[in-house]
Amino acid sequence: MIHVSHLVKTIQGQMILDDISFDVARAEILVVLGESGAGKSVLLKHLIGLLKPDKGVIEIEGRDITKLSEEELLRQRQQMGYLFQEGALYDFMNVFDNLAFPLREHTSFDSRMIAIKVEEILKMVGLEAAKHKYPSELSGGMRKRVGLARAMIMDAKILLCDEPTSGLDPIRSRDISDLIRQVSRRYQCATVITSHDIDNAFRIADRIAIIQQGKIVIIGTPQALKSSENHFVQEFIS
Ligand SMILES: Nc1ncnc2c1ncn2[C@@H]1O[C@H](COP(=O)(O)OP(=O)(O)O)[C@@H](O)[C@H]1O
Ligand SMILES: [Mg+2]
Repeated sequence: MIHVSHLVKTIQGQMILDDISFDVARAEILVVLGESGAGKSVLLKHLIGLLKPDKGVIEIEGRDITKLSEEELLRQRQQMGYLFQEGALYDFMNVFDNLAFPLREHTSFDSRMIAIKVEEILKMVGLEAAKHKYPSELSGGMRKRVGLARAMIMDAKILLCDEPTSGLDPIRSRDISDLIRQVSRRYQCATVITSHDIDNAFRIADRIAIIQQGKIVIIGTPQALKSSENHFVQEFIS
């Protein structure tokens, strides 16, 4: 579903992504772990086409998105769910309208159909009771859940989450991590999550990649990372 091959990106003469390659299959969760500044957000921005690589291939469901026009990219993005650090909810819309908005814009569903879809997804993220609330009235954890619901409202087959646990306490972090896993499984998404939250990465990932200064140090199952003899890996995960 996601195929990245020899991705290179320099920004202002600085190497930010240095020959990154990986694949993510349908219904698979890859967590990209790395310290602050390692290149995680820049990598995700390439996957949705907000940044273009200097070199390399990024295929999403068989299409090389580095070759798409702006218009084609916009259409491609509608089929991808993303939950970014900024949250990106509309402050002037309540939860219901935040979720209904993409359906009103991009589908021909009537208002009854839209309400059914929104209710269904709110139920999945456990926020039925909050549909009339505005983002400012929600806790950080609830906003992330609405963000996740909005990422999935168009039935995306690709789910990208940038540091979904940042700013949350340990319990909320575990809850949102488990919810992402549940949603990802239910929709059979190829999922990429960036994080520096090692516990939750090991909790929900099918595979983990550790990136350091724009390079993948190791990629493998949680078990494989645990038994790696690489010193950096052991130090990082301990
Ligand atoms: N728009 C930009 N202009 C200049 N440097 C940038 C820009 N975006 C990211 N960088 C640099 O790229 C590196 C990786 O950033 P980022 O992907 O945001 O790291 P993180 O792993 O914390 O998400 C950092 O050194 C950052 O300073
Ligand atoms: Mg980041």
